[in-house]
Order: sequence, then structure tokens, then C-alpha cells
Amino acid sequence: MAKALIGVIGGSGLYEMPGLTDAEELRVDTPFGATSDSIVCGKLSGIPVAFLSRHGRGHRLIPSEVPYRANIHALRQLGVRYILSLSAVGSLREEVRPLDMLVPDQFIDMTRRRDSTFFGEGAVAHVSMADPVCGAVADCLARAFAFTQAEQSTKLHRGGSYLCIEGPQFSTRAESHWYRSMGASVIGMTNMPEAKLAREAQIAYATLAMATDYDCWHPREEAVTAEVAIANLQQNATRAQQVAAEAIRLLGAEQPESVAHTALASGLVTPIDSLS
Ligand code: ADE
Repeated sequence: MAKALIGVIGGSGLYEMPGLTDAEELRVDTPFGATSDSIVCGKLSGIPVAFLSRHGRGHRLIPSEVPYRANIHALRQLGVRYILSLSAVGSLREEVRPLDMLVPDQFIDMTRRRDSTFFGEGAVAHVSMADPVCGAVADCLARAFAFTQAEQSTKLHRGGSYLCIEGPQFSTRAESHWYRSMGASVIGMTNMPEAKLAREAQIAYATLAMATDYDCWHPREEAVTAEVAIANLQQNATRAQQVAAEAIRLLGAEQPESVAHTALASGLVTPIDSLS
């Protein structure tokens, strides 16, 4: 029986999901090794949820070291059909101010050395990534943000591209300007290949991106440092958890269909009967 309907992947500063009842901590074996940390399964508003700390509790893994394939495989094994990705980002747009949140609808993958597919070695699939974010899950995040008591100065922005770099270094100023010229809205280090793998696993995926800084393009703001990013993260971690909890309630009640749920129907090339 499925242990969880909704997976929450907590990024930097988000190492737990408060309010989980009947919680049990599971180590899930995968063909891709161990997950970032054990997965905490429990219930929120009666809905089965699996929480995974992306960098491991205590923040032990740099973005390149996160075992993305193991994480998504494990969540899929637990029965997860929707993933809420809670992620810290830098802002590449004036209007997205530090402490604002953004629900992207696109990703740009600038990572360089990550295993980014479950396929190969005799099994071929090319899933569509044209619309990498599940609109229905994104809607739940946006409605959840509106529902939870917002500080007046904090805004939620809908849509925009999340550009993912390899890290762990922040970008050069030239890169930051280049990414802006590409039209990206926010910059982070982890949502790729996570979103690609979720799509291959037929799990609907959406991100709540929490802006912590203006990266280094802004003419009047200091270039990002880890210290500032972490301080701003700590300020809105509680808010992100509240938004996630409300989004879980909405998703659990509505369980929307997603193109992700049938991604392999049009993507699998190797006949299914030759894969067993
Ligand atoms: N995460 C938070 N701020 C960031 C930035 N400026 N670049 C990449 N990842 C980030």
C-alpha cells in the first residue's frame, strides 16, 4: 500500500515538516543508492506525506552531491504522486525582492555533472519537458500562499524561469547578467535534474522558490553571500512550511490530474514488454 501521496523536498534551511502526525522515519533502498537522508512519513490534515531533506539534516551535501535519482526513486516507491519542492533562490528580477516567493513555470538547466535520467542501458524514453511544472500543483501553492497570513511586504510571484547552476560557488557578475538576458527570473542550484527525474517518474512537480538575495547583478545591492542567504532563509522558513501545509491540504482534497502522471505514455520508446 502507498505510504504517501505527497512528497515534500525541503531545501536549505528546511529540514523538517512540522505538524506531521503518526510520523515514522524510513530508509528506502533504491537502485541508485541511499537518499539524502531518511524519509519521514506521516500525516498532515489526514493526508499521507513523505518529507525528505534535500541536503540532509544538518546540511551535509553540496548541490552536486545530492542523490537526485535515489531521492525521486524512493519517493515514487512510497507512492508519491505530487512533489512540493521548497527551494532557496537568488532573484534575477528587481520586482522579486528578497523574502518574496515565486512559483516558477519553467526551468533552465545549466548544471554540468549530474545523473539526470532513469533511462539508458537498454531502456529508452524521451519524456516531454515542454511544461516541466504541474500547473495544478503550482495553483495549490499560490492559493495556499494567499490563504496563509502574509506579511504585507512579502509577495508571491506566479510564473518565470528558475535557472539551475551547478554551484556550489555563486555566479560571476558576467554570468548573472547573462542569465538575466536569457529571461530567467530566479537562480538556484538544485531543481535540476530533480524536476526532470520527477517527470520521468510520472510525479507532478512544482516549486515554491524563496528569494534570499539579488545574486550579484544588482547595481545597488551587495553581491550574495552564504551568510545573507541563510539569514533570509531562516526568516521565511516558517512561512514556507505554512504554505506547504496548506498546499498539502488542497492537493489531498483535490488530487488533480497532471500531464506528468502519463508522461511515459508518449515518451517511452523501448516496448514495455521488452523491459522486464
Ligand atoms: N540560492 C540562494 N541564492 C542563490 C544564488 N544567488 N545563486 C544560486 N543559488 C542560490
